[in-house]
Amino acid sequence: MSTFEWNKIAGSILLALLVIKVIDIAGDAMPHAKAPAKHAYPIEGVAQTQPAGGEAKEAKKAAPEVPAIAPLLAKASTEDGQKAARKCAICHSFDKGGPNKVGPALWGVLGGDIAEGSFAYSSALKGLAGNWDFEKLNKFLHDPKGFAPGTKMAFAGVKNDKERAALIAYLRSLADNPVPLP
Ligand code: HEC
Repeated sequence: MSTFEWNKIAGSILLALLVIKVIDIAGDAMPHAKAPAKHAYPIEGVAQTQPAGGEAKEAKKAAPEVPAIAPLLAKASTEDGQKAARKCAICHSFDKGGPNKVGPALWGVLGGDIAEGSFAYSSALKGLAGNWDFEKLNKFLHDPKGFAPGTKMAFAGVKNDKERAALIAYLRSLADNPVPLP
């Protein structure tokens, strides 16, 4: 082989090394991927399995007062409630005679006894006396774990007052004779 050809080979090797080095430097300059603290696509309302510690503590410190439901219900839209209830439907059926799913069937829940269905309720819910009236549903749906510590309902709650009122209006409509408004 001629010296010229040897030079070509040496040249290509040098070039290859240079390219590798450039890729190496560029790689270091790229932002490093970090594990996200939250789910990339949280399902609205469903509790994050790994809540950011700080946020959870903050929420406990400033437990907000839940506004009374009666004035909110007066303006609530059953239709909006039905739409909002899509986020509950992964766990609940709303049809008359509907099955229990991850959670109990909800037809006729308003006015009925708490934890009265054929569902395997938690002792937290079974331990609550009385029936589901408007105010209890208001508080439970605002913060399930705050209202019934130890509940199996793995759901963060609906903090938006208008949406919560609409949901309760929708739950009220799921009965042959809906309970009178408060
Ligand atoms: C991740 C599943 C899940 C989601 C989402 C969910 N729930 Fe539940 N829900 C449950 C479970 C499980 C229970 C039973 C709780 C227990 O036994 O502690 C329950 C119980 C209830 C009860 C009490 C029923 C009874 O028979 O006493 C009501 C009312 C209720 N849910 C309403 C809702 C509404 C309204 C939504 C949507 C805004 C919702 N839930 C979203 C799982 C869920």
